[in-house]
Amino acid sequence: MSKAVRIHKFGGPENLVIEDVEVGDPGPGEVRLRQEASAVHFADTLVREGTYFLKPDLPSGLGLEGAGVVEAVGDGVTDFAVGDRAAYRFNLGSYAEARLIPAAALHHLPDNIEAKIAVAATVRGMTAQYLIRHIYKAGPDDTVLIHAAAGGMGTLLTQWAKHLGATVIGTVGSPEKAALALENGCDQAIDYRAENFAARVLEITDGAGVPAVYDGVGAAVYEGTVECLAPCGFYVNYGHSSGFLPPLDAMMLNQKSLIFTKASLKDYMRTPEAAKAMLAEVFDLLGQGVLDPQISQEYALEDVAKAQRAIASRDTTGSIVLIP
Ligand SMILES: NC(=O)c1ccc[n+]([C@@H]2O[C@H](COP(=O)([O-])OP(=O)(O)OC[C@H]3O[C@@H](n4cnc5c(N)ncnc54)[C@H](OP(=O)(O)O)[C@@H]3O)[C@@H](O)[C@H]2O)c1
Repeated sequence: MSKAVRIHKFGGPENLVIEDVEVGDPGPGEVRLRQEASAVHFADTLVREGTYFLKPDLPSGLGLEGAGVVEAVGDGVTDFAVGDRAAYRFNLGSYAEARLIPAAALHHLPDNIEAKIAVAATVRGMTAQYLIRHIYKAGPDDTVLIHAAAGGMGTLLTQWAKHLGATVIGTVGSPEKAALALENGCDQAIDYRAENFAARVLEITDGAGVPAVYDGVGAAVYEGTVECLAPCGFYVNYGHSSGFLPPLDAMMLNQKSLIFTKASLKDYMRTPEAAKAMLAEVFDLLGQGVLDPQISQEYALEDVAKAQRAIASRDTTGSIVLIP
């Protein structure tokens, strides 16, 4: 038996229930994983609400990313043995003590990476990788803007941009978060609930604007983001924590020849080779200490609703994790 968080209908955190489920033995090609940590992503709250692109049949488990130890292997599994440390992403059911999962969905976890670090920094790290190394390659000549710089994604993006030599302006939702963003490497932090961030970015850049904005916030920062981008700038949207972006106006983009993308990790790791290379880069930077997800809180499985309420209501910094 395993305790697992499940939903029977889409909606608020009150719909998260903890149930005893029979996990059973792994079938062919599967392993049973004893989970040591689960990510808590902003996206998990969207899955719970039924507004994420991945909308499961109900009832459903929850949680997209987990890590732990293999405790049983099914027929035909050759890559994993009992006792191996392993992790996975994009596989609903990480909010649980134990689960079955296809071995093909797992990757080995290096000895120097703790389970909680892996779940906080793998999907987010891989996302940061494609945003900052592929979509717009930030470099020493760039001053870039990162929204929600003290959050899970923002923390890693800032660290990676600084590693590449860029100057980073971060927006944040409170003075406390501004202090954290500066400590984490931001050159400037703007509390966008207290001041007009676009005007401030234009002031900092002497009116030039920035060549790229990395935006996981969406609706609330849309107009300001357009305003503070330099001509030919990259509007790199990868999330909408504050709500969906409005329909895009091509003529608005045309005013400054802006390049817009609404990007998703799944499209940048379409092949196993691409995913493997991204993962290797993230693990390498975690190992070197360049990336650190700055876990600010660990929640027990029973406190899953608290954890989801916290991330949805802007009460968290860095990453938070669930320890089943
Ligand atoms: N496209 C992809 O491949 C991909 C992959 C991973 C994550 N994401 C996206 O990246 C974003 C960040 O994810 P995360 O899990 O690391 O979360 P997070 O950044 O730790 O938390 C969300 C942050 O968004 C900011 N925010 C601004 N307005 C908000 C509002 N009205 N309600 C709630 N939050 C608001 C808050 O920071 P402030 O208080 O500082 O504003 C909050 O802390 C999410 O949109 C997520 O869906 C996308």
